[in-house]
Amino acid sequence: MPARSQALHPVPSRPLRARTYAGTARNLATLARVLRSGGLVAAPTETVYGLAANALDAAACEKIFLAKARPQTDPLIVHIEAIADLAKLAVVNPAALVLAQKFWPGPLTLVLPKTDLVPAIVSAGLPSVAVRMPAHPLFRRLLRLAGVPLAAPSANPFGYVSPTTARHVRDGLGDKIGHILDGGACSVGLESTIVDLRHPQRPRLLRPGAITRAQLTQALGVPVLTAPRRRTPATAVAQIAPGLLTRHYSPRTPVQLHRRLTARAVSSGDPREAWVFIAQPPTLPRSRVKNAFCLDPHGDLTHVAHRLFSLLRELDQAGFTRLHLELAPGRAGLADAINDRLRRAAAI
Ligand code: TXA
Ligand code: MG
Repeated sequence: MPARSQALHPVPSRPLRARTYAGTARNLATLARVLRSGGLVAAPTETVYGLAANALDAAACEKIFLAKARPQTDPLIVHIEAIADLAKLAVVNPAALVLAQKFWPGPLTLVLPKTDLVPAIVSAGLPSVAVRMPAHPLFRRLLRLAGVPLAAPSANPFGYVSPTTARHVRDGLGDKIGHILDGGACSVGLESTIVDLRHPQRPRLLRPGAITRAQLTQALGVPVLTAPRRRTPATAVAQIAPGLLTRHYSPRTPVQLHRRLTARAVSSGDPREAWVFIAQPPTLPRSRVKNAFCLDPHGDLTHVAHRLFSLLRELDQAGFTRLHLELAPGRAGLADAINDRLRRAAAI
């Protein structure tokens, strides 16, 4: 066959078929070897599953962007095994140490000036780096065995809902990556809180999460303000204020938010649409019961956070024409993080 026609009809590269691994000692050793030799491994953290690569290996990190179809302007979070590793990657200040000692290992990411050890691709060319020490035992063992910090964004195609089970990872990236470590469902279920500590006197909350603004403010002794959210296209955002993408974590089904959902809204609504209540929904006519869902019978926000992304994914695949989502009551604590994700899911 002439070369020209080959160019016109390129043979697609064979899709990878991800293998799922249980967290046995042997499997962890195998996966650590994959990471050390520049490969990708999806692995559970207590927040969401991450797609990990050796953070000190630029070529390995580039594969993360390719697998996720993530713009290289959106920087990665680097995961470390111990607080002592922070100073290798970031210029540490006392405020950062206060938060690290209080909340690590756990769902908190610190943004600090970076050191030269961090490749430019990890920080999207920014002079800062986002670092966190995760609490999940399997991720921690992987970090220890790999012996390198691991860059890991959420293990989903860019812009889609973050994965909280190995199955979610396989659904989104199963033909893009080779290895998924299965650690069951993530306990928190929402991505980490991100706080910008480049100016420790003026800490900024870049993304709310399970570690709340009140907890941060109390630990630091200065108010933690929210960075202004900008409606900026994904490709331009990193250079201005990464982590603040408006549309993110979005199902494909159109989403409509409600401060308060009522039985009437469901009863009189379109039967092809779904209604998601934070707590036990009111009594509904039989014909509408299959359209109504609740995140936790008692409205316990820890459970709501744990279940949110799973339910959004299920409903996204169920063929509804619209998802009506009720916001969590209040503004403080987990409600802030849950409503942030709901608003991003609904943003156009
Ligand atoms: O819980 C989590 O944080 C999970 C798990 C896997 O650790 N990771 C995660 O990563 O959510 P990702 O990439 O989906 O979200 C990381 C966010 C991005 O929005 C990115 O823009 C922001 O962190 N980020 C990374 N480096 C930054 C930096 N230097 N300055 C500001 N934001 C940064
Ligand atoms: Mg993500």
